[in-house]
Amino acid sequence: MDIDDILREVDPTFHAVPQEKRDLQELTRAWIAERSAPELLPWPPNGLFERINDNIKRQIEKVEEMTGDMDPRTNFALIVIQTELERFKYIVRSYLRARISKIDKHTLHYLSTDQLRSRLSEMELAYATRHQALLHNHYLSSFLSSFPPQMQNLNDSAGISMVEAPDLESAVFIRLLKDCLVEGRGVDSDGQMEGRESDVVILRWSDAKPLVKSGSAELNINNRTYNTMASPYTHIVLITGANQGLGYEIAKKLGAEHKDYHIIATGRRKESLDEAVKKLQSEGISVEGLVLDVTSDESIAEAVKTISEKHGRLDVLINNAGISENAMKDPDVPAREVWHQILSTNVVSTAQVTDALLPLLEKSQAPTKRIIFMSSTLSSLGLRADPKSNLRHTFYRAYSTSKTAMNMLAQNYVIQFQDDPTWKVNMNCPGYCATNLNGFNASAQEPAFGAINACRLATLGPDGPTGTFTNVEGTVPW
Ligand SMILES: NC(=O)c1ccc[n+]([C@@H]2O[C@H](COP(=O)([O-])OP(=O)(O)OC[C@H]3O[C@@H](n4cnc5c(N)ncnc54)[C@H](OP(=O)(O)O)[C@@H]3O)[C@@H](O)[C@H]2O)c1
Repeated sequence: MDIDDILREVDPTFHAVPQEKRDLQELTRAWIAERSAPELLPWPPNGLFERINDNIKRQIEKVEEMTGDMDPRTNFALIVIQTELERFKYIVRSYLRARISKIDKHTLHYLSTDQLRSRLSEMELAYATRHQALLHNHYLSSFLSSFPPQMQNLNDSAGISMVEAPDLESAVFIRLLKDCLVEGRGVDSDGQMEGRESDVVILRWSDAKPLVKSGSAELNINNRTYNTMASPYTHIVLITGANQGLGYEIAKKLGAEHKDYHIIATGRRKESLDEAVKKLQSEGISVEGLVLDVTSDESIAEAVKTISEKHGRLDVLINNAGISENAMKDPDVPAREVWHQILSTNVVSTAQVTDALLPLLEKSQAPTKRIIFMSSTLSSLGLRADPKSNLRHTFYRAYSTSKTAMNMLAQNYVIQFQDDPTWKVNMNCPGYCATNLNGFNASAQEPAFGAINACRLATLGPDGPTGTFTNVEGTVPW
């Protein structure tokens, strides 16, 4: 007995309509596909969305009619209908949000050709056009008006294209709907496999698209049930201190923007880490949690063992865990202990973690092995020594000293691997961001801002630099 049978029995006026069932299934598929595909998919044809909306309206009216009826059988039917209604509404909302966020991100791209515009519904097209007009006016009044007229076009395609497009090379999961040949391009080589119906395969979207278009496969977001993999290479990334703050934001951004990256989010507090991992997973990030207290050799050894057994390698290490005076405000802790703990966590432990993970990084088959050190402009001796610099203050003494030492530590790894261009070792200043480290200072940037440069460094290819110290604006003086 399914929900329709129950409803038919308790409410004789309710009739199961197969078309509605089919519509719900189709909408669910469209929703999953839209959430999985890196680009905007065509608006569902044949009035599907309009029918769904009418159906929702009808259900709302029905609920209003039934409310107040004291018959327990009607009440039960009401609960079932309301639950079903909420399910419909959730899928509709989530589907529209997935589309709007893509339109917001690449508005000009989707307006740039008739073919792309035809993917948008009438209302989406009106929304995108207004959105772009507002943005253009804002750019114009902020800075574009100071340029010569021929340089004021946002869609100027001379030289570098100014119209940002979605990344069609990012990875997606597809489920095969019939036996077929699956061809995928990998990092090192291309691959082919005889796919069987129901196989779940991870592929670049550009390779998967023809299979989805021809009806041989459908997009799938369940990344826990795949049984075969046809490339591309999955980059294994370890982030220390990822249960909150910038580590968490880096995991979120990296995982959301690179479906072929698997994140090992580590943290010293299991409960807080589990909560963070759950949240990331609910957002579709490929992530696992691993307890790692960077100040404990035992914990480091245990983590290395787990990663060796499970993944056998590491491709990216982000040394993010850190503490400052702010995290140690207890007046009873003696100054010597404060200094000791800050230097121990930020410098000594970073060295121990990096050394312990080098053998796994050496096993990476990715085109580059990347190590990122989360430094800070506060570490810069050049800025401190400059009387004109606004960083010439005496605060966070132990913290800033630890970050200067961390830069020196990082330089040692730069030099160690300088003759092997596959190693990219860089120092990053995330910018001043509101986190626990500074008591969530209200004047600081959103934590998400702090993830931008780290993610750039975590995805450097063979042409990328090594030995740099940068923030989002460029080079930071040593
Ligand atoms: N926020 C900024 O403005 C800013 C600016 C420049 C550089 N940075 C750097 O960015 C990095 C992240 O800082 P944040 O701002 O995100 O601060 P945060 O929110 O306090 O995060 C620091 C992270 O490090 C973890 N951690 C501390 N000690 C650890 C240990 N012994 N083992 C494992 N993990 C440990 C913390 O875990 P718990 O949750 O258990 O404490 C937390 O997850 C730090 O290296 C910091 O120096 C931040």
